[in-house]
Amino acid sequence: MKIDLPAMVPYFSFRSCCYILVLISSFSSISFLYWSYSSVQTKGLNESQLRFEKVNLLMFPSALNHLIFPSRPPPRLLKIALFVKKWPSKHQAGGLERHALTLHLALAKRGHELHIFTTSSSNLTTVNNVYFHLSKPTSAGYLDQALIWKQFQVQNSTGQPFNVIHTESVGLMHTRSRNLSNLAVSWHGIAYESIHSDIIQELIRAPEEPQSYALTERVVKVVEEIKFFPRYAHHVATSDHVGDILRRVYMIPEERVHIILNGIDEEIFKPDVSKGKEFKLKFRIPESKSLILGMAGRLVKDKGHPLMFEALRQIFSENSTFRDSVIVVVAGDGPWGERYKQLGSNLLVLGPLEPSQLARFYTAIDIFVNPTIRAQGLDHTLLEAILTGKTVMATKLASITGSVIVSKDVGYTFPPTVGSLKKALYEVWKDGRAILEIKGESARKRGLQLFTATKMAAAYERLFLCIYSHDYCVL
Ligand SMILES: *[C@@H]1O[C@H](CO)[C@@H](O)[C@H](O)[C@H]1NC(C)=O
Ligand SMILES: *[C@@H]1O[C@H](CO)[C@@H](O)[C@H](O)[C@H]1NC(C)=O
Ligand SMILES: *[C@@H]1O[C@H](CO)[C@@H](O)[C@H](O)[C@H]1NC(C)=O
Ligand SMILES: *[C@@H]1O[C@H](CO)[C@@H](O)[C@H](O)[C@H]1NC(C)=O
Ligand SMILES: *[C@@H]1O[C@H](CO)[C@@H](O)[C@H](O)[C@H]1NC(C)=O
Repeated sequence: MKIDLPAMVPYFSFRSCCYILVLISSFSSISFLYWSYSSVQTKGLNESQLRFEKVNLLMFPSALNHLIFPSRPPPRLLKIALFVKKWPSKHQAGGLERHALTLHLALAKRGHELHIFTTSSSNLTTVNNVYFHLSKPTSAGYLDQALIWKQFQVQNSTGQPFNVIHTESVGLMHTRSRNLSNLAVSWHGIAYESIHSDIIQELIRAPEEPQSYALTERVVKVVEEIKFFPRYAHHVATSDHVGDILRRVYMIPEERVHIILNGIDEEIFKPDVSKGKEFKLKFRIPESKSLILGMAGRLVKDKGHPLMFEALRQIFSENSTFRDSVIVVVAGDGPWGERYKQLGSNLLVLGPLEPSQLARFYTAIDIFVNPTIRAQGLDHTLLEAILTGKTVMATKLASITGSVIVSKDVGYTFPPTVGSLKKALYEVWKDGRAILEIKGESARKRGLQLFTATKMAAAYERLFLCIYSHDYCVL
């Protein structure tokens, strides 16, 4: 997304005009909220409409992250039920669980009362306003629906009833959700998205490997989802792409589909040059290298490591200048960690890192590369790199190109083939550090508006208020 600086000038005067309006209308409980100036290119509404029309949260076409929410205390405190299969005890938990942890702890900190229905966990966070209701998972690993429903009923009938119910994916199944109008489900991957991954897997399959059943079964799964998704009242898509699919392909009414992009802790993931230097010293990353590529996460096939391995192997053997000037630093573990080591001293495989170390890792590298072929949800590692001020490079998957690497100004994308990946790596190398830094700054500027945990929590808070009472929907 281009940031249109000249548009700021009239915009600020508009803001000051509205502050006055807010003072006048503050008795009428109309909440005030305004647009970030970078959001004017949002589909549907043009710039002048955005400035002068009230925003109805339920009809908002784009990610709610584009809105700027006031940081003052919430107009009302909510009692919220959360259903999530597992509550993570460690910060490095991936996708869905990380989302659950970051979001709900932030909501509790804002004063809301959180009741978390989940399976037993070895180490539960003790935080104000957070109450855990544990149960044993079923043999298939799901939440025991009858049991959690009973626990829920007890909590709902003692003291205050719940204002809002949130389920991370199918934590609460559709059989229980169907009559609840004050419920929202967050999707971290839907079957339709995965079709793209299935196609890629099939294309890169070695001839001796058997064809995967997933490819044909996936479409059946999509149809199943289209049938049961309407039993959830409100849907939160974690990427613009999934929001579009839910409205268009899954045919869920517009006012029940909301887009809230994932956010990550902006206090942990931020640039810190001196810590980056320390990191380089500690792990002996030679100063002589003119380009440091970084990768992080689980080092498995799904995350595209076979592609990256082959691209690097070919480039290192065909171009000695590239080989001598580039180092690839890999954080994380998995089978491809050992294989990367075979590529020689240009590959530095560090194993998994704690979040604070991971923040230093991002600061130390020049560009973050994520060759993932798993088109599900919105990848956290890209957002972490971006908030640390780094440009990113990733596979052309719709969630990534639609919400994260939306232009060349912030990063690079490539189709998932060895040839295209090599081409992109050469391009990054030729662009060099100076250009990568400029792109990194643009990425961080955009990231601070969209991908912070604070922004994500504010968007959910507002949506939950609106689900609780439509009085809170018009901004
Ligand atoms: C914005 O849209 C409104 C309504 O469709 C239209 O009247 C107006 O001319 C548009 N403004 C611009 C600047 O395109
Ligand atoms: C449990 O969490 C606390 C606080 O975060 C931590 O100090 C402790 O080491 C953890 N224990 C286990 C067994 O993970
Ligand atoms: C929770 O309690 C309220 C108030 O008694 C009731 O109206 C509501 O139906 C209950 N919710 C569920 C899901 O049972
Ligand atoms: C939902 O409401 C319908 C009609 O009132 C009822 O037949 C059904 O049992 C309810 N389902 C649940 C899960 O409460
Ligand atoms: C490496 O690639 C660059 C850019 O494509 C090229 O200019 C250079 O000649 C190549 N060097 C070698 C040793 O192949």
